[in-house]
Amino acid sequence: MFDTLPGFREFPPDACAQRNHLFRVFRTVARAFDFQEYDVPLLEPLDLYLEKSGEEIASQLFHFEDKGGRKVALRPELTPTLARMIAARANSLPKPVKWFNVGEHFRYERPQKGRGRSFYQFNADLIGEPGIDADAELIALLASIFETFGLSQQDVVIRLSDRVTWVLLLDQLNISMDARPATLDAIDKSGRRKPEQTTEALEAANPGRGKELFEEINQIKELGDLESITQRLEACGEAGVLRAKEWKDLAGRLAAHGCEGMTKVDLSIVRGLAYYTGFVYEAFEATGEGRALAGGGRYDHLIKKLSGNCDLPAAGFAIGDMTLSDCLAKKNLLPRYVIAPDLYLIFGEPEREIALRLSARLRKAGHGTSYALKPQGFSKQFKEAGKSGARYALILGEEEVNQGRVKVKDMRSSTEEECMIKELVQRLEEWDTEGGISQDS
Ligand code: HAM
Repeated sequence: MFDTLPGFREFPPDACAQRNHLFRVFRTVARAFDFQEYDVPLLEPLDLYLEKSGEEIASQLFHFEDKGGRKVALRPELTPTLARMIAARANSLPKPVKWFNVGEHFRYERPQKGRGRSFYQFNADLIGEPGIDADAELIALLASIFETFGLSQQDVVIRLSDRVTWVLLLDQLNISMDARPATLDAIDKSGRRKPEQTTEALEAANPGRGKELFEEINQIKELGDLESITQRLEACGEAGVLRAKEWKDLAGRLAAHGCEGMTKVDLSIVRGLAYYTGFVYEAFEATGEGRALAGGGRYDHLIKKLSGNCDLPAAGFAIGDMTLSDCLAKKNLLPRYVIAPDLYLIFGEPEREIALRLSARLRKAGHGTSYALKPQGFSKQFKEAGKSGARYALILGEEEVNQGRVKVKDMRSSTEEECMIKELVQRLEEWDTEGGISQDS
């Protein structure tokens, strides 16, 4: 026997129905925000991620050499592919581009609660619009998806931060351009590490200043509202004043979108991926338990870096299916799906071909139809009809067929009615609108 690989999941029909529920909500809400669906390859050149995703993802790649000697990787995320795709079509695409995707991704992480080696993401990205209205539109889409699943601000929080603010404050602390990436990385990981480890990482990036920077950075991480961030930014000169205004405008837009209750300023979010340049955010359960439900932000230079010439501002986010499913299950917000045919045909063996012809007509008319694939007595077929969960059992005995009739049993009320076979499709429609076969028929 072969087991599934660690971190990979199988989806039997009930799990698949649940996954489809997530996908349906993603698609419905994305369309309400006028985003269009696109798709891309699962396998990509390895270099796409080595250069663009940052060290953490690069260390988690599933990669190999194909038979043509190409170094390839299963996609760990979508953003670099999207950036390449947009760059190649930049001149012909009307801006802004609002695209979404639902698809599978692969990262060689340690499998644990909420983390697998294969998982699904819903990605939404908005390209060609540099202003905070694009960031607000994306955060509103994220909040609206949570709300459509039945999650409120009591359940989830979108923690909002800003890379521009961090860069301005690090400049103020005289951190050199060269030390910036490693310092931001240390800040990003500080929530998951012991204080000594963070101090060590800060010391490695800024020799002689580890302890001092640890204190300074903790103070910045605690700036938990707009006023305190504004005060700190206004001490950073003109660029700081400008950014404080953008924070204020973004907060105003989020309030207008009706999602300010679900968002919270939190500078401890930095985002591990290398390409982010502006406002960034991650969504978590409001209790703080578990890994992130979603993450995203602005990445204004990625398309230029990939294409060399096409300079387009961009922003986006991704929601993962694993942590979201765990959160919905915990709050009892995953609907139980009935996987059942609409109709179950019961017939004697001599009537099989007539029954098959009828089933073909019913299926064409959109009714899910099932029946026994091998000869079975009537009582066994009735039992199977009950087990199948079908709404109606259709009985085709010799006598009924000779008269061109069919007996229909409403499996909920046990009420029966006979009708002409040729009128069946229309009668089924009538029963549907009437809520079943009436007791006095
Ligand atoms: P990310 O934060 O790496 O961002 O992933 C987004 C979400 O995908 C996470 O919050 C989590 O729910 C899910 N996820 C990531 N890794 C795993 C895993 N190993 N197992 C289960 N779920 C996982 C990105 O991927 C960015 N490309 C998002 C983005 C789109 N930024 C701009 N546009």
